[in-house]
Amino acid sequence: MEVRKAVIPAAGFGTRFLPATKAQPKEMLVVVDKPLIQYSVEEAVQAGLKKIGLIISRRKETIPDHFDETPELENFLEEKKKIELLEEVRRISHLADFCYIRQRQALGLGHAILMSEDFVGQEPFAVLLPDDIFDCPVPCIKQLIEVFREKKATVIVLQRVDEDGMNKYGIIKPKPISDRLFQVEELVEKPGPAKAFSDLAVIGRYVFTPEIFEMIRRTPPDKRGEIQITDAIQLLLEKQPVYGLLFEGRRYDAGDKFGFLQATVELALKRKEFRERFLRFLQEVFSQEEVNF
Ligand code: UTP
Repeated sequence: MEVRKAVIPAAGFGTRFLPATKAQPKEMLVVVDKPLIQYSVEEAVQAGLKKIGLIISRRKETIPDHFDETPELENFLEEKKKIELLEEVRRISHLADFCYIRQRQALGLGHAILMSEDFVGQEPFAVLLPDDIFDCPVPCIKQLIEVFREKKATVIVLQRVDEDGMNKYGIIKPKPISDRLFQVEELVEKPGPAKAFSDLAVIGRYVFTPEIFEMIRRTPPDKRGEIQITDAIQLLLEKQPVYGLLFEGRRYDAGDKFGFLQATVELALKRKEFRERFLRFLQEVFSQEEVNF
């Protein structure tokens, strides 16, 4: 069966980004000129996924508003003959077929994904974490879907990390299949360098078979009371094969303050309207820093 639906969880507290996330959703923080969540929605759409389930919670109303129609703004732009902006605003509200699902309490990523069970039904589906921005020649989620088509099994995306990353991410025990593809033999959440099986970390894109829902239901909460998706994947791989793909491209952890800065600088440099001016500005900053050192 084809992957047709995407789930984008956006109901977390975003504590790593406080105080910015005190009164506004992390997913609506802006990188260059788009909120984080729009990068994920566009990636899903580019991969042919037009049905998108967004998991939201209280204080996240700006997310549905962003993807909704805005007649007053559209009329205003039309009157002022700001046609390019008008087209961009209209394009956003017609990007996909959205379904909003509430997660009443932030009980973890696994729990957030479980909330999408009715929306997904009995079919394979994609999950995109909006605080991971991918900049890839082929959209990252499409790279996973291509493996899914061949293997008909769950596929998760991997990135090589340093020792610090082994304290931050789930790490797999890999069985190599090709240069970039691995079968996942085990998966441990944040093992730390001493206990890590490898340097291959699980990051924010997944294609799941629908059996993941049953595994999430069987997953007990961790020490912090959260249901972790990595624990559910560990249960799943005991029943059916799970694959991990080292993606081709670049990834920014924009849910983290430093990763957000990296994304802002590199993605701004990729925009032709900013590139030259911004480079000149950065060069000025570097030369001033050299003087100060
Ligand atoms: P994170 O692990 O980044 O958690 O979630 P978080 O709460 O947003 O942020 P920090 O770690 O406290 O800074 C990854 C994605 O999963 C969603 C988040 O909104 C984010 O987009 N999520 C997380 C949920 O939807 N529900 C949850 O219970 C937890």
